[in-house]
Amino acid sequence: MKADVFNARALREAFGAFPTAVTVITANDPADRPVGSTANSFASVSLDPPLLLVCLAKTSRDYPTMTKAEHFAINILSEAQKNVSINFARPAEDRFAAVDWARGPNGCPIFAQVAAWFECSMHDVIEAGDHVMMVGRVTAFESSGLNGLGYARGGYFTPRVPAKAVSSAAGGEICAAAVLERHGSLFPLGDENLPFPSCSAAGGDPANTLASHLEQLGLSVHDWFSLLDL
Ligand SMILES: Cc1cc2nc3c(=O)[nH]c(=O)nc-3n(C[C@H](O)[C@H](O)[C@H](O)COP(=O)(O)O)c2cc1C
Repeated sequence: MKADVFNARALREAFGAFPTAVTVITANDPADRPVGSTANSFASVSLDPPLLLVCLAKTSRDYPTMTKAEHFAINILSEAQKNVSINFARPAEDRFAAVDWARGPNGCPIFAQVAAWFECSMHDVIEAGDHVMMVGRVTAFESSGLNGLGYARGGYFTPRVPAKAVSSAAGGEICAAAVLERHGSLFPLGDENLPFPSCSAAGGDPANTLASHLEQLGLSVHDWFSLLDL
């Protein structure tokens, strides 16, 4: 499609083919009341100095407050926080009423149970068409290890398959089913057929532990996604 025939909806859909995480940008208004808005336009920018950016629509009700704020925070939502994303993207009397939050070191609202949060000082506000790019310099952050919530083509998703494999491995057990091919014959393996080799992965990386265990048995793994598809 050429620039002179761009259709905003088609362009939005094409941009939406890029899967992202989901964040809520938060700050305080001059009366120290919290403001927040869902945004998936987050990007990490620089490690030294530590910079990130998020794009905010000029039509957002929070635009004047956010762009004048000295500090803002980015809350990277975890996979159980789809409702938080929805809540901070639609009009509500008090968006913060339904979320467990506390103030960060510089006073910005930080949500509980997020995958990670970053509190920033405002480094730059860059004009970019109908949005601005808010560039933040990270002053504090924390990463919880929880899986992030995903968003693509207008819908939410969770990285459930690897997460499930990793969380069962965290309990010390890996369960898998597989099909073994030998001299052209197929043998289904698993709990109800031939037992699949299993090992404990407590304390180690589950994929590496299982791979080295299989190698010791003289087996090679060709398709990790099938292996992890529990
Ligand atoms: C998943 C998702 C991602 C969004 N990403 C952005 C974004 O990056 N920038 C933005 O300005 N608005 C984004 N929005 C829309 C805003 O959240 C929404 O328009 C805003 O919260 C409306 O609030 P207002 O009534 O206060 O303007 C997103 C919405 C959703 C559901």
